[in-house]
Amino acid sequence: MPHVMEIEAACHQWDMWTEDEFLDVLRRRNVIGMVAEFDGVVVGFMVYELNKHDLFLMNLCVQPAMQRTGIGTAMIDRLKEKLSAVKRSTMELIVSERNLACHLFLRDLGFLCTETIRYPDDDDNYRFVFDITAKPVSERLLPKRRDRFENRIRRIDPA
Ligand SMILES: CC(C)(COP(=O)(O)OP(=O)(O)OC[C@H]1O[C@@H](n2cnc3c(N)ncnc32)[C@H](O)[C@@H]1OP(=O)(O)O)[C@@H](O)C(=O)NCCC(=O)NCCS
Repeated sequence: MPHVMEIEAACHQWDMWTEDEFLDVLRRRNVIGMVAEFDGVVVGFMVYELNKHDLFLMNLCVQPAMQRTGIGTAMIDRLKEKLSAVKRSTMELIVSERNLACHLFLRDLGFLCTETIRYPDDDDNYRFVFDITAKPVSERLLPKRRDRFENRIRRIDPA
């Protein structure tokens, strides 16, 4: 827990979970917490809720000095193994509109933003979903984009 709290504090200055909040969620029957270790040192963690039909990622953090080294991807890959087309096919999480790094990270891993959650006096949040039954994002978007632009690219005629 001390390592997890250190990473949580470094990643979420404003909306960090307290140790009691961590312990409360981890005591729930369907909530699981995992840490990522490098050379025996805790460098990241995740907390998720494993439901019958979906997986909800409640918290995911990588120690700032170790970010962009593939640890976040490795943790999400571990969660993807828990999905299957027949039983639990989606995983989702809610991310603040301010967290651009996380949007880019999730996009890289095949998540789609499916909903904007709006609060009257606070920032918007986005719901990001990964669906194992959906075609990869590249297959879904690229052909359409290509069609749209194909007929609009014209050579400039200097005459
Ligand atoms: C979001 C987070 C978990 C990503 O973990 P990570 O280990 O740094 O991610 P990876 O190294 O696996 O990155 C994979 C890809 O995601 C994208 N990405 C990740 N962080 C990015 C950033 N800051 N800016 C742009 N793209 C980013 C890149 O495409 C990256 O691949 P590349 O490094 O080869 O370009 C980490 O930045 C973090 O802990 N952030 C603070 C806490 C947080 O926001 N948690 C998520 C909400 S609960």
